[in-house]
Amino acid sequence: SDQSAFDTDVWTLTRFIIETGRQAKGATGELTQLITAMLTAIKAISSAVRKAGLAHLQGMAGSVNVTGDDVKKLDVLSNDLVINMLQASYSTCCMVSEENKELIVTPKDKRGKYVVCFDPLDGSSNIDCLASIGTIFSIYKRVSEGEPTEQDALQPGSNMVCAGYALYGSATLVALSTGAGLNFFMLDPAIGEFVLTERNVKIKQKGKIYSLNEGYAKYFHPSINEYLKHKKYPQDGSSPYGARYVGSMVSDIHRTIAYGGIFMYPANEKSPKGKLRLLYECNPISFLMEQAGGLATTGTQRVLDVQPESLHQRVPFVVGSPDDVNEYLSFVQKFS
Ligand code: AHG
Ligand code: MN
Ligand code: MN
Ligand code: MN
Repeated sequence: SDQSAFDTDVWTLTRFIIETGRQAKGATGELTQLITAMLTAIKAISSAVRKAGLAHLQGMAGSVNVTGDDVKKLDVLSNDLVINMLQASYSTCCMVSEENKELIVTPKDKRGKYVVCFDPLDGSSNIDCLASIGTIFSIYKRVSEGEPTEQDALQPGSNMVCAGYALYGSATLVALSTGAGLNFFMLDPAIGEFVLTERNVKIKQKGKIYSLNEGYAKYFHPSINEYLKHKKYPQDGSSPYGARYVGSMVSDIHRTIAYGGIFMYPANEKSPKGKLRLLYECNPISFLMEQAGGLATTGTQRVLDVQPESLHQRVPFVVGSPDDVNEYLSFVQKFS
């Protein structure tokens, strides 16, 4: 496209999914409608996040959610935006949100064929200190007939048709895949569109950064502490790794894809399945990580192969550059 300041043939995300949709056999345009609605919600969340401090949108909503998190005002606002925009797109039959204990069934007259599992605001403990936060979503085709059921949402991640995250960082970015590679789009506030900035993104085979909350070291399984010791005091003459941890998974994951390395939220004595939730955090991120050529494991199996049993179940989560994840798995073998 021309290099002038104003691209007159701009590749917006909407144009990208229309093109992708038209190549899909039997496409009805419903997935395009769904993703477009999700993008509207993301643009509105981005706007709310950036004025939260001014519009008294920081702080607590005063409730606790089903996974025991303190709910923030922005969690509620983001959740309402996603639910309303998606239901208005006539493309969903049901949804799962971190902020809703039960399956969210779409009103009968607004139903479509897709299921969406989403985390409306990821990293909400970082809102009040202005660290980056995000939104995560994953999309499946329904498997039920008639009334939607939890079975529509309890599909293994390998059934996913699309996943993405938004990162509200120094710029607002959307990472998206429909199964044919991972693509990055940046929000251009001047035109309110997400513009394609990187096609078919691939993660490095091996990185130099490890990322996890070492505050739980006292409660980690020995394989984790032994792996970390190897990263800090390598015996094989290699250089020690750097450490980076934002505490917003979307931010830590985006850096891991961009720079390489490993992100871990392992099980610990206090949280025997770790903290991250399978349906709306681990599965979508694992789908995107694999599209970028990375690996995503629970430590005992590929995340996308896990057969979910409950909407808010947690799994231990280790993802990133293939060589780094495989090196970690060799420590699991040695110390289990
Ligand atoms: P959420 O804000 O959606 O509840 O997710 C927070 C998650 C994830 O973003 C991050 O990786 C993790 O919590 C951080 O947990 P710790 O503070 O225990 O490290
Ligand atoms: Mn939460
Ligand atoms: Mn989250
Ligand atoms: Mn959340």
